[in-house]
Amino acid sequence: MSESSFTAMVVTETAPKSFNRAIVTRSVADLPPGELLIKVHYSSLNFKDALSACGKPGVTKNYPHTPGIDAAGEVASCSDGRFKVGEKVIVTGYDLGMNTAGGYGQYIRVPSAWAVPLPKGLSLKESMIIGTAGFTAGLSVYKMQNNGVQPDDGDILVTGATGGVGSIAVDVLARAGYKVVAVTGKTAEHDYLKQLGAAEVIDRETMMNGSDRPMMKERWAGVIDVVGGDMLAAALKSTRYGGTATCCGLVGSPDLPVNVFPFILRGVSLLGIDSVQCPVEPRLKVWEKLAGDWKPQHLEATVNEVTLNGLEQPIADILAGKSRGRTLVNLQG
Ligand SMILES: NC(=O)c1ccc[n+]([C@@H]2O[C@H](COP(=O)([O-])OP(=O)(O)OC[C@H]3O[C@@H](n4cnc5c(N)ncnc54)[C@H](OP(=O)(O)O)[C@@H]3O)[C@@H](O)[C@H]2O)c1
Repeated sequence: MSESSFTAMVVTETAPKSFNRAIVTRSVADLPPGELLIKVHYSSLNFKDALSACGKPGVTKNYPHTPGIDAAGEVASCSDGRFKVGEKVIVTGYDLGMNTAGGYGQYIRVPSAWAVPLPKGLSLKESMIIGTAGFTAGLSVYKMQNNGVQPDDGDILVTGATGGVGSIAVDVLARAGYKVVAVTGKTAEHDYLKQLGAAEVIDRETMMNGSDRPMMKERWAGVIDVVGGDMLAAALKSTRYGGTATCCGLVGSPDLPVNVFPFILRGVSLLGIDSVQCPVEPRLKVWEKLAGDWKPQHLEATVNEVTLNGLEQPIADILAGKSRGRTLVNLQG
């Protein structure tokens, strides 16, 4: 394979609402415009990637398409001088892998403003085990902490705890000194969550006990939620006076069936988390934390490494809510 062609996953709409995935050879010349050409070493699998790879609505409008909302690699060329050739960079979010050819190809071309330098303290591989899911976990903890929740304030609830965002959130929170209570639907994974740093693991039924009432007993100083729906509603109803919940996902439901009582009687804050358009300043700050004093300590326990050919099962698992931790995609392996 020459430097002008490369291997990529391409998803094609073969008939209305019918999609096919293939690993093909693509040409660098066919990549979209942008100042920065990156030789991708690693990508990862996020919930959104699975939606894009299957043609599910809400992520990718235009096919044929190469998914992959994450990419880490080395700069092959940069026309505006922002990065040097050979410099290691990370791209997450913006339009990468949505309607811009993404990290499931050995090269991407993007606006240089989308990239951040690989922070000192992380390898390219570690940065993609973290990926968008881990960055989102870090951003959630960062915003929760900036809103005043400190480690000695009490228990922090993490929902969807065995998933990508949840696993890294448990690890980061434990590293930052918080006492983590992880809620999971997977009874077989309690030991995994304790290994990541959860002080306590509860099942979804326990979490939802009494959630039909307007308010529940105060329990959480903070909440990192990826589920939405009834789970987030129950978490808000049981957040302690002055506590903070963050909301980044909708694996349970995009609805939020909650009354105003947690907000007006207990002063609870609900913070929205968006990793896609996250401004540069907090983006750099969160990556610095993830490479430094919040660096997850159990990345190897969290990761399942595959090549492009090995993505089929992980895609099916993540859509079924069955995956554990993070799937790393090795583009050069
Ligand atoms: N806002 C942003 O910028 C941003 C960034 C990244 C991700 N997200 C969103 O965050 C969510 C999680 O992403 P992820 O990559 O962590 O996905 P993931 O790896 O699939 O993890 C989701 C976890 O949620 C739990 N879960 C699944 N279905 C559920 C249901 N019906 N009810 C309750 N729990 C359920 C499962 O964990 P247990 O079995 O342990 O309960 C599952 O492993 C997605 O909605 C994703 O789109 C948003």
